[in-house]
Order: sequence, then structure tokens, then C-alpha cells
Amino acid sequence: VQPLETDRLLIRNFAPDDGPALLDLVRRYQSSPYAQFDHRWPMSPEEIQAVAEWFASGESSLAVCLRSSGEFIGFVSLNQETTEPGCIYNLGYVFHQAHWRHGYATEACRAVLRRAFLDLGADRVVTGTAAANAPSCRLLARLGFRQAGESTGAFQTDQDGQPITFLGYSYELTREEWLAAEHTLACQN
Ligand SMILES: CC(C)(COP(=O)(O)OP(=O)(O)OC[C@H]1O[C@@H](n2cnc3c(N)ncnc32)[C@H](O)[C@@H]1OP(=O)(O)O)[C@@H](O)C(=O)NCCC(=O)NCCS
Repeated sequence: VQPLETDRLLIRNFAPDDGPALLDLVRRYQSSPYAQFDHRWPMSPEEIQAVAEWFASGESSLAVCLRSSGEFIGFVSLNQETTEPGCIYNLGYVFHQAHWRHGYATEACRAVLRRAFLDLGADRVVTGTAAANAPSCRLLARLGFRQAGESTGAFQTDQDGQPITFLGYSYELTREEWLAAEHTLACQN
């Protein structure tokens, strides 16, 4: 993929040498209260290096870096859904905790949504998050996503082997909704 540039960010393909920065990001994420609502990540340097190399071999997960310093601050994923007809992508994102609350996730996801709708021909982008993951819910609302459903899920178990259940929201954004939101934003600027 050609790198995407925004005001403050460079969004590019992963490279194998992103492994150490990805490890730091994953470790911080796993110690956050939000990790329990996601699949458990591998935690060893070797496993994360393999993930970085796997990301680098494809184009689904993109590294987000600060343009000013080149520092890796997070990643955004767009995975094509194959279970339903139409061109549907699933959006995912994790940012390093040291870089939360600067608007970087919003800026990066906006650029990636543009790519999904304009370059990849997406009809719809979908995603899901735990109701208790308030920053993620706010991010999706800012991006224009609409809550499309809710269900109880569990990705992890506690020390006693009991599933950690949580309320999850599914979200979607159609091409029409995205175009309308882009138009509104363009009129505001
Ligand atoms: C979800 C996640 C990416 C959200 O990160 P975030 O830092 O809240 O989102 P942004 O980078 O877009 O920052 C937006 C916040 O910064 C604030 N902000 C500060 N300076 C800003 C600026 N210059 N421009 C825009 N926003 C700014 C905004 O007001 C907003 O705050 P609010 O949510 O309280 O309204 C982050 O919490 C994360 O990586 N979590 C762990 C991974 C995760 O849970 N992923 C989802 C799994 S389903």
C-alpha cells in the first residue's frame, strides 16, 4: 500500500523491525482494563516479532507513526469480511497508551476509512467493541459509526476458568453514511 499521510501521521505497511515497538504497545494494552474484552495477545518477544512479520507480509494491518519523529504509536487493521455478500471490511485499532487522547486514533481511522471506501470499494465498514470500552465507543461515534446491535460475548477466562462475559456493541458505517459525514466535515472546515 502507498503510505497514507495526514496532518500529523504517516500510516504505512508494517516492517519486520516494528517488532520491538509492537511488543511495547501490546504489553501496555494487555495491562489496560480494556484487554479483557479482546482476544488474548501473545506476549513473548518472539511471538510478537512473528506477528510483526505476518503484518508486514500483508496489507491488512497498517502501522501508524508520528510524522514529526517517525515513532510507531499504534496500528489500524482493515480485514475483509467473507461471511456476508458485498464488499465489507472490519476495522480494528490499538494505540499506545502514551499517545491516547491526542486525536491520533481518530485521524488515522479517518484516513483508513477513506481508503476503504475510495480505494477498496467498500460498501460497508463494520466493527465491534465492548460497551465498557468507553474510549473505543467515543472513537466510533466520532468516526460516524452507527450502533447496529448488541450481544454478550467472552474472549477470555478468569483465574477460575470462568468466561469473562461482557456486553458488546456492533457498529457499522455504510458508504452513503460515510459520504454524508465527509460532506458535513468538509462544510465545517
Ligand atoms: C480506542 C483507542 C484507540 C481510543 O484512543 P483515544 O486516544 O481515546 O482516541 P483519539 O486518539 O482519537 O483521541 C481522542 C480524544 O483525544 C482528545 N483530544 C485531545 N487533543 C486532541 C486533538 N488535538 N485532536 C483531536 N482530539 C484531541 C479528544 O477530545 C478525545 O477525547 P474524548 O474521547 O475524551 O472525547 C485507545 O483507547 C486504545 O488504543 N485502546 C486500546 C485498544 C482498544 O481498546 N481497541 C478496541 C478494541 S475493540
